[in-house]
Amino acid sequence: MSAPTPPTAELHLHVEGTIEAELLVRLADRDGLPLPSRDTDVLRERYEHFADLQSFLDVYYANLAVLRTEEDFHDLATGYLDRARAAGVRRAEVFVDPQTHVDRGVPLEAVIRGLSSAFSAAEETHGVSAAMILCFLRDLGPEAAEEILRAALPFREHFIGVGLDSAEVGYPPSLFTRVYAMAASEGLHRVAHAGEEGGPEYVREALDLLRVERVDHGIRAMEDPELVARLREERIPLTVCPLSNVALRAVDALPDHPLRRMLDEGLVATVNSDDPAYFGGYVDENYRAVARDLGLDRARLAQLARNSVDATFAPEEDKRRWRAEIADWAG
Ligand code: ADE
Ligand code: ZN
Repeated sequence: MSAPTPPTAELHLHVEGTIEAELLVRLADRDGLPLPSRDTDVLRERYEHFADLQSFLDVYYANLAVLRTEEDFHDLATGYLDRARAAGVRRAEVFVDPQTHVDRGVPLEAVIRGLSSAFSAAEETHGVSAAMILCFLRDLGPEAAEEILRAALPFREHFIGVGLDSAEVGYPPSLFTRVYAMAASEGLHRVAHAGEEGGPEYVREALDLLRVERVDHGIRAMEDPELVARLREERIPLTVCPLSNVALRAVDALPDHPLRRMLDEGLVATVNSDDPAYFGGYVDENYRAVARDLGLDRARLAQLARNSVDATFAPEEDKRRWRAEIADWAG
């Protein structure tokens, strides 16, 4: 039997990255849409070999053609939350890329309402708490980001924050200073991908200019000791995605992953799955992989889980309950 994993929060999860091959076929059949193949083994092959972030993003964006209706988005999120519950997830703060859907002609309302109704149902039925973070696609630039934020504000009650994702290098955080200030003035939380493929300067800019409360990935911050000291002192959480980093070749192999060093440095590192349908595992599988390949014992896994709860934007009373569950798990 595989090793048990702790109750946890998942803070770095792109809902579009949870389209398993079976769901791809089911949605394409339902909406009468073409696919390169109807054979899930053939489709899965395309999921497995990436040279870098961009080669993954090419497949990821192409597969989104099957998401057209509010029901499609609802079913996508429900599938993820069912699997997340089985993985021990108590709280999921879920990324969505609205620009890519709106640019394909899908109404923003269908995206947001479809996801939001799935989140409410998961909370009522299974007690899994879920919240939405809208990500700006950095390669579409800052004006497009401002436009989508303005379009989303009528649905403000359905999301808690903004993020920044897609191709990193060449699109530094500094480009998005104004839209992050707009988000802050609306009372939205702020996170950003930085230091996945981009260097430590991307992480510094995200902190200094975007005023992010968490850094997504952030593994390349480890190249800069001063930045590491700052992340520790300011207790900035890092949402690390070990299987993703190996799949996209940000790290050569899991035994080389900096996660253990991040914990040794006292950073608020957390474990997450990023795009689990593509990278070989949901959050429990990421925990198991780091336990095995980095030799992290139960106490270290519990630390990672505690970090994840500390890093959520959930109400304090929920955090207290989840921390108690983790303490029970740790024994
Ligand atoms: N969009 C989906 N997954 C991503 C990742 N790992 N980095 C940047 N953008 C993404
Ligand atoms: Zn990501």
